[in-house]
Amino acid sequence: MNRFDLTGKNAIITGGNKGLGRGMTEALCEAGARVAIIASSESVFAVAEDLKNKGYDVYAVRGDLSDRAGIPITFEKAVQTLGGRLDILVNNAGIQRRNKCEDFTLEDWDSVINVNLNAVFQMCQLAGRKMLAQGKGKIINVASMLSFFGGYTVPAYAASKGGVAQLTKALTNEWASRGININAIAPGYMDTEMNVKLVQDEKRNAEILARIPKGRWGTAEDVKGIVVFLASNASDYVSGAIIPVDGGYLSK
Ligand SMILES: NC(=O)c1ccc[n+]([C@@H]2O[C@H](COP(=O)([O-])OP(=O)(O)OC[C@H]3O[C@@H](n4cnc5c(N)ncnc54)[C@H](O)[C@@H]3O)[C@@H](O)[C@H]2O)c1
Repeated sequence: MNRFDLTGKNAIITGGNKGLGRGMTEALCEAGARVAIIASSESVFAVAEDLKNKGYDVYAVRGDLSDRAGIPITFEKAVQTLGGRLDILVNNAGIQRRNKCEDFTLEDWDSVINVNLNAVFQMCQLAGRKMLAQGKGKIINVASMLSFFGGYTVPAYAASKGGVAQLTKALTNEWASRGININAIAPGYMDTEMNVKLVQDEKRNAEILARIPKGRWGTAEDVKGIVVFLASNASDYVSGAIIPVDGGYLSK
């Protein structure tokens, strides 16, 4: 038996069109899942088309996760494209805003909390209701090193990712005995568009690299294995875990 096989499983991933999400979408496809990608950008259609051309079962749903009223409609559309059953939800979409705490605007605060935390709870709740009725499901949230640290100039992001870690545990306490596993992946410093400024800042880049035992930034390839593990039967006794995928960063 291949415990990691996702053949016949239906998955929704938010922000699965680029960065780490794109890597996780590919991994779910490669493991056999049918995947619906929810993203706000038009590019989601081209990405789904590209993966379809490679032989995978992928659908695109355009939706803005900062629009609270629109989320249930977007979610339902994604579930319907998958045929009505949902086995796996990956809450990957996230945004970043940087500014000193004293100058951080409330608009930026709201934007980050809405996408990174409020939408994650809403999506978990919508998926959870379905999965509870089915008696089984896997929810995978994307946390961060800033679920553990406060960071600098990113107060809203740190608060949102701390919240994602706590939410993952809260949901586990209520749902694990009812067939749903809820875990979070906490990526370390990953070389994606979100971190362009950090990668280009020679001083910060050197400081970050010096602290990563693996000696390099992470990439979208590095989150592929963990998402398949958490989506599959291989992780049936794992729930409420915040799993670092950080090249050892937290150990130093
Ligand atoms: N890059 C890193 O170092 C790093 C580290 C830890 C955690 N993370 C987390 O990993 C996840 C992916 O990050 P990434 O680096 O790939 O970022 P990215 O900027 O490359 O991609 C973000 C994705 O989120 C989607 N998105 C953003 N706002 C949206 C909205 N309002 N509605 C729908 N979709 C929206 C975008 O379409 C995009 O697909 C995020 O949750 C991020 O916080 C990233």
